[in-house]
Amino acid sequence: MAEKEPFYITTPIYYPSANLHIGHAYCTTIADSIARFRRLAGYDVFFLTGSDEHGQKIQQKAEEMGTTPLGYVDPIVANFQKLWEKLGISNDDFIRTSEKRHEAVVQEIFRRIQAKGDIYKGEYKGLYCVPCESYWTERQIEDGKCPDCGRAVQEVAEESYFFKLDNYADRLLAHIEAHPEFIEPASRRNEMINFIKQGLEDLSISRTSFDWGVPVPGDEKHVIYVWFDALTNYLTPIGFLDDPEKFAKFWPADIHLVGKEIVRFHTIIWPCILMALDLPLPKQVYGHGWLIVDGDKMSKSKGNVVDPMLLIDEFGADAIRYFLLREINLGQDGNFSRDALITRINADLANDLGNLLHRTLSMIKKYHGGELREVVGEDAIDASLREMAAATVRDYEAQMKNMEISTAVKTTWAFVSRANKYIDEKTPWTLAKDEAKAQDLICTMANLAESLRIISVLVSPFMPVTAKRIREQLGLTDIDGVQLDEARSWRVIPAGHRVGTPEQLFPRIEVEK
Ligand code: MSP
Repeated sequence: MAEKEPFYITTPIYYPSANLHIGHAYCTTIADSIARFRRLAGYDVFFLTGSDEHGQKIQQKAEEMGTTPLGYVDPIVANFQKLWEKLGISNDDFIRTSEKRHEAVVQEIFRRIQAKGDIYKGEYKGLYCVPCESYWTERQIEDGKCPDCGRAVQEVAEESYFFKLDNYADRLLAHIEAHPEFIEPASRRNEMINFIKQGLEDLSISRTSFDWGVPVPGDEKHVIYVWFDALTNYLTPIGFLDDPEKFAKFWPADIHLVGKEIVRFHTIIWPCILMALDLPLPKQVYGHGWLIVDGDKMSKSKGNVVDPMLLIDEFGADAIRYFLLREINLGQDGNFSRDALITRINADLANDLGNLLHRTLSMIKKYHGGELREVVGEDAIDASLREMAAATVRDYEAQMKNMEISTAVKTTWAFVSRANKYIDEKTPWTLAKDEAKAQDLICTMANLAESLRIISVLVSPFMPVTAKRIREQLGLTDIDGVQLDEARSWRVIPAGHRVGTPEQLFPRIEVEK
């Protein structure tokens, strides 16, 4: 059997300074849908997420709480993992930067780059934003505030190790220009090109004023800068130090999916580290937009932070996943609102998809005792449904490969609507009254079951539990192990197949006045 093509996708590793909100869940859900889609399309997928635990911010939080940094982050990281499980996230590993396996990688990378002469010791004087763990120059800050988060920056003056970023600026620019797909979307690419063209200053990569981090090898009063530490997480679980075969298979990563404000770290600092290590650069860094809530940025002070855990308890994971994937165009900012969520659940899930399944199974029961029968021939309406199924799978595959997730969801739902319309066009209730139309009724029932089978495959990256439930009700094998090829064929379910009992997929949500 041919070797499966590898596919490596990552999310950012999240700061465990507080529990995660719906914006973080958005990013991880997108990555999960891509990972699941690639598995479906026959790739050998490695999907990584984790937690970014070091740094001054975490140390400060722990001190405020009168505990150790690890004592502070442990329960929060446990909540991350609980959230991902509840949301149906299919990550293959979860990396914590506080783990020994990671510390060994960070130190080895520091050593290699130092041995090469690209790291030197000096003195850092400048500005630092603790919440963003980010250095800024006078020129970059706006009214004494961090240009990313708008909070006050602090002056720092301390002995520090520096990484000679500028050694790699020309090669980086040439790479970005030769590989337009390296930074997506294009708006982010242009921002980064402008940034690099202004010249890259050597990057301070160690701190001495706190100690919650990976020690600099051989100079333990320094801890390695949290971003230098965090970015290298992408190498740790794929065997950078301990499994050359696995490493050769999965590196370079196919996609680092990150939020727009951290594209800079991933397309400037990270590639320079990799070039210094003589490693290939990731194939793509995709900067997604931000989720806002009822038109407003989420913040603790505004009290509008949406807890994904509570939403899942109320509406179920698949409904939340559907909303996030369907409602927001990946490269742009998008809005979350409870009303919009409920509208989508009622219209798309309860009505379009839920009714299609329920009507189909009820009719197969009513007209044919729950059994599919031998189909002979098809008419023009049947053919148009079959052709649309094939076109849907083709478009869907291209869109998912092209990161047009929301479009792929819409493509799938256009087919759901088509199948509903097919019922209205065929009017099975009139066919059932006419003996001469018996064959047409058999064909109609089989075509609806086929359509739902294909839909179960296509929705599986978006709504894994729903895909399972549809297949159970259709009496088909479980979705695990099913490949996209299954959706490319028509007339797969054999005559004599018995469907299961119809159950409501999504209850309608009553809206309070
Ligand atoms: N720890 C760093 C990432 C290191 S990756 C080597 C970090 N952590 S974070 O917890 O602050 O943010 C993680 C991700 O969440 C970022 O990609 C950020 O864009 C994303 N989001 C935070 N708020 C968001 C929204 N409101 N909407 C969408 N994504 C948002 O940065």
